[in-house]
Amino acid sequence: MIEAINIEKSYFQTKIFSKKRVVTALKNFNLKIERNDIIGLVGESGSGKSTAARIIIGLEKPDKGEILFLGQNISNYSSQQLKEFRRKTQFIFQNPYSSLNPRLKVGYSVEEPLIIHKIFKKKFERREQVFEMLENCGLEREYYDRYPHQLSGGQSQRAAIARALILKPEFIIADEPTSSLDISVQAQILNLLKQFHHKFNITMLFISHDLSVIRFIATKVAVLKDGEVVEFATNEDFFRNPKTQYSKALLSSIAGKN
Ligand SMILES: Nc1ncnc2c1ncn2[C@@H]1O[C@H](COP(=O)(O)OP(=O)(O)O)[C@@H](O)[C@H]1O
Ligand SMILES: [Mg+2]
Repeated sequence: MIEAINIEKSYFQTKIFSKKRVVTALKNFNLKIERNDIIGLVGESGSGKSTAARIIIGLEKPDKGEILFLGQNISNYSSQQLKEFRRKTQFIFQNPYSSLNPRLKVGYSVEEPLIIHKIFKKKFERREQVFEMLENCGLEREYYDRYPHQLSGGQSQRAAIARALILKPEFIIADEPTSSLDISVQAQILNLLKQFHHKFNITMLFISHDLSVIRFIATKVAVLKDGEVVEFATNEDFFRNPKTQYSKALLSSIAGKN
């Protein structure tokens, strides 16, 4: 469904009192995401996970390489195709407040994508769909009128997920969506995402530095090290029989915690 081919991306970093330096975030990054996969992209902090996410979904351009969506290079899209792509692909961030406007009612933030994409003409039809999506995400109707600051972290992430799902996307990238939440809430959100994956056949790229989260949710695992995918395997194969030294080290570092 989505393929990243030989992606390279570097940044200039300027620090006060020192010279510019070039940081290579991705080099020779390759990843093939098939329909219905939940790819767990795992790697240490700074390994390039978020950069890969932004490039795959077209928020940033790579220096080299290409992203194919349904076989077509997204950098060649017409504005109409790009709009369509923006509807079919959605992002869930680590911090739910990055997708909820603090000055808008939560319900409106969920409704807004429908307005932008002119999906429903009648206001009451649109509202109904929002209520239904909020409820699907575990938020009762009355949450429509709340503001983000009146919600807990877990509830905010539920609202952010509702906003991401309201356009019925085919593909979602979730970048550490549970990393800022308490453990018990983490499990609820993971279950919710897993449920949506089954219910709506959503393909996902799920990013985490936490292998136990990846083990729970992913169908396939991609290990990112210094901007490169060093191992790619099914969940079962990866956790039973990791191939690279690096994966073995990652796994042994969590073994003690379980
Ligand atoms: N916008 C940016 N400007 C400069 N450097 C960046 C930028 N985004 C990422 N980087 C650098 O690229 C590397 C990979 O970052 P990132 O993709 O955020 O990793 P991860 O999500 O795995 O923690 C890091 O060294 C980071 O400092
Ligand atoms: Mg990141």
